[in-house]
Amino acid sequence: MKKLLLPPMSLYLLPLFLQIATLLSAPIYTPVEDITINCGSSGTSPNIYDNQNWTGDINSKFSPIELHQDNTNTSSQVREAPPSSVSQVPYTTARLSLSEFSYKVPLSIGQKFIRLYFHPVSYDPSFDRSKTLFSVRAGGFTLLHDFNASVTADASETETLIREFCLNIDDGHSLTITFTPSRAIPDAYAFVNGIEIVSMPTNLYYTASESHGVDYVGNEVNYRIENITAMEMVYRINVGGSALSFDQDTGMYRNWGSVVDEQKYLDDLSSRWTVLPQNVSLQLNFVKIPEYSAPQVVYQTGRSMGSNHTRNKSYKLTWEFPVDPKFLYLLRLHFCEFEPEIMDPGDRSFLIYVENQLAEPQADIIVWSGGNGRPVYRDYVVFMPAGPDQKKVKLFLALQANPRDWMTAYNDVLLNGLELFKLSDTNGNLAGPNPDPPPPKPMQPKTPSKESKKKSTPMLATVAGAVSAILVLFCVLGFLVFRRRRRSKDTDDDSFLLSGLCREFSLSEIKAAPKNFN
Ligand SMILES: *[C@@H]1O[C@H](CO)[C@@H](O)[C@H](O)[C@H]1NC(C)=O
Ligand SMILES: *[C@@H]1O[C@H](CO)[C@@H](O)[C@H](O)[C@H]1NC(C)=O
Ligand SMILES: *[C@@H]1O[C@H](CO)[C@@H](O)[C@H](O)[C@H]1NC(C)=O
Ligand SMILES: *[C@@H]1O[C@H](CO)[C@@H](O)[C@H](O)[C@H]1NC(C)=O
Ligand SMILES: *[C@@H]1O[C@H](CO)[C@@H](O)[C@H](O)[C@H]1NC(C)=O
Ligand SMILES: *[C@@H]1O[C@H](CO)[C@@H](O)[C@H](O)[C@H]1NC(C)=O
Ligand SMILES: *[C@@H]1O[C@H](CO)[C@@H](O)[C@H](O)[C@H]1NC(C)=O
Repeated sequence: MKKLLLPPMSLYLLPLFLQIATLLSAPIYTPVEDITINCGSSGTSPNIYDNQNWTGDINSKFSPIELHQDNTNTSSQVREAPPSSVSQVPYTTARLSLSEFSYKVPLSIGQKFIRLYFHPVSYDPSFDRSKTLFSVRAGGFTLLHDFNASVTADASETETLIREFCLNIDDGHSLTITFTPSRAIPDAYAFVNGIEIVSMPTNLYYTASESHGVDYVGNEVNYRIENITAMEMVYRINVGGSALSFDQDTGMYRNWGSVVDEQKYLDDLSSRWTVLPQNVSLQLNFVKIPEYSAPQVVYQTGRSMGSNHTRNKSYKLTWEFPVDPKFLYLLRLHFCEFEPEIMDPGDRSFLIYVENQLAEPQADIIVWSGGNGRPVYRDYVVFMPAGPDQKKVKLFLALQANPRDWMTAYNDVLLNGLELFKLSDTNGNLAGPNPDPPPPKPMQPKTPSKESKKKSTPMLATVAGAVSAILVLFCVLGFLVFRRRRRSKDTDDDSFLLSGLCREFSLSEIKAAPKNFN
C-alpha cells in the first residue's frame, strides 16, 4: 500500500481532506449479486469508471443460447464498434443477431436492477444502424418492444443508451433475457453491448408486506407495488445539484441526473428560480429512511422558490416530464430541510400537485422527517391517460407555497431529488413507442467561439489556476482513498483509476446519465 505523503503547506487543508475522505468512504450498500457482462468480447475487461471487471460472453458461463445454433448465417455474431468517442467498456463490442438469442444468468431470489447498455452504430455493412429493431423479454416481462436503439439515441442526442429495470426473481435459479429481432422490417437485427444485474435492498421500491402501500393520486385506496410488477426507471435527478455517476451512488450503481437535466423539465417560469447551494458541513441524520436510499449530496442540494419568501403565493414551481401514456408511474420525491432557518413544524408548509391533482394539501418536511438535516422520501403512484395521439404525454409535478400565512412561516417549497418509474401493465409490458427522429439540425458554425473564453481577465485565470490546483490535490487524495475502498484492491493500473475519478462529463454524457429515455 502506498503511503500518503502530504506537503506541510497542505496541512491546513486537512479538515477538507477528511471531509472528502468521508464522502468517498465505503459504499453504504453492498449488493449480494453484481454481475456485469461485456457482450461480444472474451476474457474480462475493466470498466475505467467503476473499476468493475466485465465478463466477456464468449466461451464463458454467460455465453448466450441461440435459437439457430447450427446455422452460421443466423447465429449471433460479435463485432467491435468502429472508432468513436465512446471507447470504454462495454460499448466497444457488441453481440448482434438476425435471429433470437438469450442470456441465462444464474441468480438468487430477490429484487434486482437489470441494466442494458446499447451503443447503436453501424458495426459493419451487414449490421447497419438503421436496421436495429428488436424486443427484449425477461422473467415474463416485455422490457422493450420493436425498440429502435438508433432513433432513440438520436432523439436523446446521445451516442449510448442505458435502460434500467427493476424486477423480482422468485424462482431462485436464473433469469433469462431474450433478444428477438422484429418482423416489422426485413433484415432487422437485435444487439446488446452490456448487461448488468445488481441486487437491490429488499423493498427499496417495492411495497413491503407490512406496509399499507403508496399514495395513489386521485384514488381513495393506496396502491401496492407487488413483486409481480416490473419497473423501468425513466427519470432520476439530483434536483438542483450535480450529476452523480454510478460510482457516486450508495452502492447500487444508479446514475443521478444534474440540474442541467432538470432544467429541461422545468416550465419557463420555474427555471428562473435559483437553486439552493449545497451545505457540505451539514451532517445528515438518517432516522426515517435507510442511508442507501440516495447519496447524501442529493439531500444537501435542492430547489426552492428562492430567498424572496414574499413572492407571488399563487405561483407553482412546476416540472413537466414526458412519459409514455397508459401506464402507472411511481414518483418518489426526496426531501431534506437543510436551510438553518427551517427547524420546526410549520416553518415551511407547501402543497404538492401530481398530474394536476392535489397530492399533499400540507406538505411539511420537518413533520415527516422529525427535524432539520433528516432525509425523507414520499412515494406517489399516478396513472397517465392517453393524450390526443399515441405520443408522449406530460406528467406534471407542481409545488406551491402555502398561501395561508398562518399555516407557514415561509411561503416557499423545497425538492431535493426525484425518481420516476414506469410500472408494467397487466400484460407484463413495459415497452412504449419509439420516439420521433429529431428535426434535422442547421449547419453548425465551423469553430465554436473561443474568443469569449480568451477575454477572461488575468485575475480570473489566477483563481481558476488555484482552483484547479486544489482540485488536482483532491483528486490525488480522492484517488488514494478510492483505491482503498474499492472492493478490488489489486489492480495496478493507477492512471485509469485517476482519470476515472477526476472525469469530466461531456454535455451528452450528462444528458445521458439519468435516463436514456426518449
Ligand atoms: C449462408 O448464406 C449464403 C448466402 O446467403 C449461402 O450461400 C450459404 O450457403 C449460407 N450458409 C449456411 C451455412 O447456411
Ligand atoms: C417480494 O419478494 C422478496 C424477495 O424477493 C420478499 O422478501 C418480499 O417479502 C416479497 N414481498 C411480498 C409483499 O411478498
Ligand atoms: C430506426 O432509426 C433509424 C435512425 O433514425 C432510422 O434510420 C430507421 O429507419 C429506423 N428504423 C425503423 C424500422 O423505423
Ligand atoms: C450549514 O449547516 C450547518 C449545520 O446545520 C449550519 O450551522 C450552517 O449555518 C449551514 N450553512 C449555511 C450556509 O446554510
Ligand atoms: C420579493 O418579491 C416581491 C414580489 O416580486 C417584491 O415586491 C419584493 O421587493 C421582493 N423582495 C426582495 C427583498 O427582493
Ligand atoms: C401572481 O401570478 C399571477 C400569474 O402569474 C399573476 O397574474 C398575478 O398578477 C400575480 N400576483 C402578484 C400579486 O404578483
Ligand atoms: C480484474 O481483472 C484483472 C485482470 O484479469 C485482475 O488482475 C483483477 O484482479 C480483476 N479485478 C477484480 C476486481 O476482479
